[in-house]
Amino acid sequence: MHLLPLTLLFYSSYTLLSVQAGTAKIGESCNQGENRLQAGTFQFWSECDSQAYCGPGGTCVKKGCRKDDFPFGYAPGDHIPDKCPRGQFCPDEEDKCQDLLPVNSDCQLNRDDECEAPPNFKELADTTGRGLNVNGSVCLNSKCMWANKTLGVSCTVENTPYIAYGKGGEFIDIVSRGDCHLGLYCDAATGLCITEKNLGDACTADKEFVWTDLEVYQGLRHVS
Ligand SMILES: *[C@@H]1O[C@H](CO)[C@@H](O)[C@H](O)[C@H]1NC(C)=O
Ligand SMILES: *[C@@H]1O[C@H](CO)[C@@H](O)[C@H](O)[C@H]1NC(C)=O
Repeated sequence: MHLLPLTLLFYSSYTLLSVQAGTAKIGESCNQGENRLQAGTFQFWSECDSQAYCGPGGTCVKKGCRKDDFPFGYAPGDHIPDKCPRGQFCPDEEDKCQDLLPVNSDCQLNRDDECEAPPNFKELADTTGRGLNVNGSVCLNSKCMWANKTLGVSCTVENTPYIAYGKGGEFIDIVSRGDCHLGLYCDAATGLCITEKNLGDACTADKEFVWTDLEVYQGLRHVS
């Protein structure tokens, strides 16, 4: 098992595949129906360039917020939209800040930060940098939930098939996420929360290892 090289290859696939934005400029026309997550990378894409979103009137409008610390597509000196204040989030479209969403609301892929925190957020929050949840909340299969399922309890799992590149060409890297308590993961076969294994123990998939920071890209787990 070559976990680290796989992760690095996966990392570089982002560079290869990413066409991060369309070409229409602020004020030019666009089709909201073309808004999508890109195949393979699942990054949000619209016909507008990286400084604009496709507004309801079919025109590219200057972005009203940003979700990333270091947004792509701005030159030095350009005005960069602000991040949203605590209690709000900037959606993938980056049109405007919205209030955090309650449990069961629709949320966007890998956007745990769109969901409202549980009352026991201090106990549930992942502070390891592995990206297992944000303040105790997860967005799985487009719904907000809390990462509070305990050992042996039925859980929700979301598998996302990213396209990665290796020596042999393209391959699918499945990233698996769940709503189990820290120290547990959601086993896809049984649908139950199971204890994370230590390196060296027998295992069926990479996600049963306890990952170290280096082996994890954006805190997500790679199952194959
Ligand atoms: C986590 O959620 C709590 C409760 O909503 C909130 O008070 C706190 O500021 C949040 N922490 C972070 C880091 O967002
Ligand atoms: C666990 O989280 C769910 C939301 O995902 C919530 O409805 C439920 O009440 C929580 N259970 C406990 C024991 O906190």
